[in-house]
Amino acid sequence: MSSTLFRTKKVEQSILDTEAPEHALKKTLSALDLTVFGVGVIIGTGIFVLTGTVAKNNAGPAVALAFVVSGVVCALAALCYAEFASTVPVAGSAYTFSYASLGELPAWIIGWDLVLEFALGTAVVAVGWSGYIASLLDNAGWHLPTALGSRDGAEGFGFDILAAALVLFLTAILVIGTKLSARVTSIVVAIKVIVVLTVIIAGAFLIDSSNYDPFIPKAQEVPAGDSLKAPLIQLMFGWAPSNFGVMGIFTAASVVFFAFIGFDVVATAAEETRNPQRDMPRGILGSLFICTVLYVAVSIVVTGMQHYTDLSVTAPLADAFKATGYPWFAGFISFGAAVGLTTVCMILLLGQTRVFFAMSRDGLLPRFFSQVHPRFRTPHRPTVLLGVLIAVLAGFTPLSELAELVNIGTLFAFVVVAIGVIILRRTRPDLHRAFRTPWVPVIPILSVCASLWLMLNLPAETWLRFAIWMVVGFLVYFLYGRSHSRLARQEQTTGADRS
Ligand code: ALA
Repeated sequence: MSSTLFRTKKVEQSILDTEAPEHALKKTLSALDLTVFGVGVIIGTGIFVLTGTVAKNNAGPAVALAFVVSGVVCALAALCYAEFASTVPVAGSAYTFSYASLGELPAWIIGWDLVLEFALGTAVVAVGWSGYIASLLDNAGWHLPTALGSRDGAEGFGFDILAAALVLFLTAILVIGTKLSARVTSIVVAIKVIVVLTVIIAGAFLIDSSNYDPFIPKAQEVPAGDSLKAPLIQLMFGWAPSNFGVMGIFTAASVVFFAFIGFDVVATAAEETRNPQRDMPRGILGSLFICTVLYVAVSIVVTGMQHYTDLSVTAPLADAFKATGYPWFAGFISFGAAVGLTTVCMILLLGQTRVFFAMSRDGLLPRFFSQVHPRFRTPHRPTVLLGVLIAVLAGFTPLSELAELVNIGTLFAFVVVAIGVIILRRTRPDLHRAFRTPWVPVIPILSVCASLWLMLNLPAETWLRFAIWMVVGFLVYFLYGRSHSRLARQEQTTGADRS
C-alpha cells in the first residue's frame, strides 16, 4: 500500500498533460507579466491592514523587523519554489511539484492545503476590501446597514454583501479568461504601487522620531485566559504568554506573513507562461524583493507618523494621515487600497481554481472539473464552483483569525516544497533545471526550519483548525482520490496487460 501512496507522477507526464488540447491553457504570460502578477497579489490586506494591528498588539515600531523576518523566510522558500517552478512548469504550484517528487499522498496533502490557503485568503481579502469600500461610502455620507457590512466584530445575523459581490464579479472575469484579467491587473497594480509610494514619500515628511521610542517595546505578559490563543511555542515550553519584546517580533512576523502570500501563486501560472524556465524565477524573486522593500519602508514611516499605541487597526495607513492632519491623503489611500485589494482577491481566486483544476486533471478530484471552456479555454467549472463557495464564506464569516489559518497552510506548503527540492535532486538529477536553488541542501533545510519556526509562533487554536482541515482531506483522499487517481488507473491497466 505504501508504494501506491508514494507513487510519483513523472515530470515528463506532467508536462505532456498540459499539451492535451482539451486540457490546455493558453501560454501568454512573460516575466514582466509574472512580476506584475506577483506584486498584484502580494501587496494587499497584509500591508494595508495588518501593519497597524500587529504594531499595536505585538511589536510596536519593530513591526518593520517582523517584515524583515517574514521576508527572509519567504526568500528562502522562494529560492526553492523557483527551482521547482522552472523544472515542472505545470499548473498547480506546490501540488504539482510534490506529485513529481514526493508522491501522491504528500501531493494530495499539499493540494488540499493550498485549497485552504487560497480559498480563505480570497475571503479574507474580500472582507478587507469591503471594509475599505464601506469606509469610502461613509466619507461620502452613505452608511451601509450593519447587517450588510463586515462580520468582523459585528453582532447578530448578517451578510457582508460587498465582499460576496466582489468575489462573484471576479469569478465572472476569470471565467472569461486570463488575458483580460492580466490587463486589468496591470492597471490596478500601478494604482496600488503609486498609493504605497505616496504613503512612503509623503509620510516621511510627517515622521516624529519620538514615536520610535521604544523601538522594541518591553515584553508584557498576556493576562491568563484562553490558552489556545497563545503561540504554540510558548505553550510547548511552558513560557508565560507575552506580547512585545523580542518574542513579539516573531509573533508579529507569523501574522504579517500574510502580507507576503502570493509569490507562490506566481508559480501556479507556470503553465500559462511563454518561457517558464527563464521567466518563473525572475517573476517570483523579483516581485518578492520589490514587496519586501516597500513593506519595510511603509511600516517604518507609519509607526513614525503615529505612536504605535494610537495606530488604527482597520485602516492604519489612511488613518495615520488623518491623525497628522491630511484627510485628503487618507481618502486617496483608502481609494487606492480598495482598488488594490481587488487584484489580490482576483489572483488568489485564480490560484485556487488552478490548483483544483490540476488535482482534478490527475483524477484526485472528479474529472468533470478539468474540462476547459471550449471558447474561453479557462477551467470554468472549478472557477464557478469555488467562486460561489468563497462568496458565501466571505459573506458570512468574520475573518480576522482565519488569516492565521491561511498562514499556517502556506508555511506548511513551503516546508513540503523545500523537502521536495532535496528529494528531486536525488531522484531526478537528470532533469533540466533552468534555475537551481543555491547551496542545496543548506538553503532548503534553512527554509524548512524558518517556516516551522513561524508556524510555531502561531496560536495553538490555529494548529487545531489546521489539523481538522487536514483530517477531512485524508478522508476525501482515501474515500475518493486514491481509487480514482489517473496514476492508479494507469497502473491497473499496465497490470492487466501484463497478466
Ligand atoms: N499578500 C496578500 C495580502 O497581503 C495576500 O493581502
